[in-house]
Amino acid sequence: MTTKLSVGGLFAGIGGIELGFKKAGFDISWANEVDKNASITYRINHKHKLFEKDLRELQTKEVEKVDIITGGFPCQAFSVAGNRKGFEDKRGNVFFEILRFLDDIKPKVIFLENVKNLKNHDHGKTFEVISDELTNRGYHIKYKVLNSAEYANVPQNRERIYIIGFKDKKIYEKFDFPKPKKLTKTIKDLIDNTADEKFYYNKSKYYEKLKNEMINKDTIYQWRRVYVRENKSKLCPTLTANMGTGGHNVPLIIDSKDIRKLTPRECARFQGYDDNFILSEQLANSALYKQIGNSVTVPVIQAIAKQIKKAFDV
Ligand SMILES: C[S@@+](CC[C@H](N)C(=O)[O-])C[C@H]1O[C@@H](n2cnc3c(N)ncnc32)[C@H](O)[C@@H]1O
Repeated sequence: MTTKLSVGGLFAGIGGIELGFKKAGFDISWANEVDKNASITYRINHKHKLFEKDLRELQTKEVEKVDIITGGFPCQAFSVAGNRKGFEDKRGNVFFEILRFLDDIKPKVIFLENVKNLKNHDHGKTFEVISDELTNRGYHIKYKVLNSAEYANVPQNRERIYIIGFKDKKIYEKFDFPKPKKLTKTIKDLIDNTADEKFYYNKSKYYEKLKNEMINKDTIYQWRRVYVRENKSKLCPTLTANMGTGGHNVPLIIDSKDIRKLTPRECARFQGYDDNFILSEQLANSALYKQIGNSVTVPVIQAIAKQIKKAFDV
């Protein structure tokens, strides 16, 4: 096939899914995101049209028809870390907005990403609803939980579920999830030798406690409000949206100088973003941490998108 398949991105955040598809050779047509700060990052890094508004207010006639619709829809409602209300939660309900786009635009493919727990949430009922809604619209579905550390040569332990629906049964049958990739990159490869003073913890009231407990230079620790947890697997723990606020889930390391938290740039690397992805100085670090934690591991998306492309190629 010579013409590129086009993509429209819902819940685009900073555009990790769109970037992965672009790198795999797709043409990104437009995206939607409501958050002002995420939209700032989005606009500096992507050239296509961004509709910056609540998806509930975006009319399908405003956007161009596309071959693929993507969406890493808000996961707080489904995550074990969240309140687990699922579809009762307003944020969970935005899933139904995706269906409106499927009904009106009728893309060939729907690509969804979410937390691993989506599958088991509410004894599997949530996933059943999602699966039924897609199947009833004529989509044939494949899904899989992939860990970034196993599929992207990125040393982050991040398990996410990827759900892909194909209108065409033959293409669905041809599609396979990517094969695991050897992990050669280490934490050290992604860490800078030193960082700006503000990232160091030497003035923190927890400094002495951290110094006693953080002894291993090859790993990343995670601050859990009152204690520090060592990550034994030599992988960066799952980066979360709240890692930059309230002292929770903050990823900590010992660099050549002292104890500090990872910088937003380092976090971006653990999500597989190249250093040419711009993190605006206009934004507070807390906003950047949130955006990166909310995002995806770009090479995982790229690998899946490549497989989708292969399924379409004759
Ligand atoms: C899990 S994040 C997706 C991040 C994205 N995949 C990325 O790579 O950055 C979910 C995003 O959905 C956005 N969102 C939540 N509710 C929305 C709504 N009603 N309309 C538009 N965007 C919404 C949030 O602001 C957030 O950026």
